[in-house]
Amino acid sequence: MKSSIFFISAAIAGMGIFLGSCTKNELSPGLEYMPDMYRSPAMKAYSESPIDPVNGSSRKPVAGTIPRFNDETLPFYEPFAYPNTNEGYEAAGAGLVNPLPNSAEILKLGETKFKVYCAVCHGDKGDGQGILVQRDKFNGVPSYYSENLKNLPEGKMYHAVYYGRNMMGSHASQLNEKERWAVIHWVQKLRADGLGTTVASTQTASTDSLTKK
Ligand code: HEC
Repeated sequence: MKSSIFFISAAIAGMGIFLGSCTKNELSPGLEYMPDMYRSPAMKAYSESPIDPVNGSSRKPVAGTIPRFNDETLPFYEPFAYPNTNEGYEAAGAGLVNPLPNSAEILKLGETKFKVYCAVCHGDKGDGQGILVQRDKFNGVPSYYSENLKNLPEGKMYHAVYYGRNMMGSHASQLNEKERWAVIHWVQKLRADGLGTTVASTQTASTDSLTKK
């Protein structure tokens, strides 16, 4: 007996709650339980906030934080003096020199990174016949020893890796500065091999001949 009274009153209470959320006004959300969970106050980032008058609606970045995006919304991982323009590309070609030695260790690093990030398009040998090209997924990848690229200075290579170039996207986020330069040593080795010369002492050879242009 007691339990059926309990069930009946529970059912009535349940119906009450159920119907309580119904309303004739279609625009009304009905009865809301804990409405602050449905309706959190919207605030613009970095605006004043009644909740936190000192810091505002969002915390400021820690002092010294380096922005991830520059004006051209490209990844901006460390300061790079040459802008993403044709002038910047030319200037990088004339003035930018690989700071890393052409050592076995650096070449190994360059080879590893090249095989991960570049070979899919450029091919393991740098002939522009990567797997994506072979499978007809991507084309227009030049060989490093083609007429156009056989004299390409390393500064332009770095610019191309940093910002991307035409169909090639930026690789600034995949490789850090050291890795980019190591990869460029590897590109120059592939190019020297492809051109049939002995492994060039890339740095002086390539920049000297090109900066004079
Ligand atoms: C998705 C395919 C793809 C990937 C991945 C790729 N490239 Fe390229 N790369 C291209 C294409 C296409 C071009 C030709 C761009 C053009 O029109 O000048 C190019 C051009 C270049 C050039 C010549 C740039 C110039 O100034 O003319 C260099 C050097 C180069 N890539 C190096 C790299 C390196 C190093 C990597 C890896 C970090 C890489 N690429 C990854 C497709 C790719």
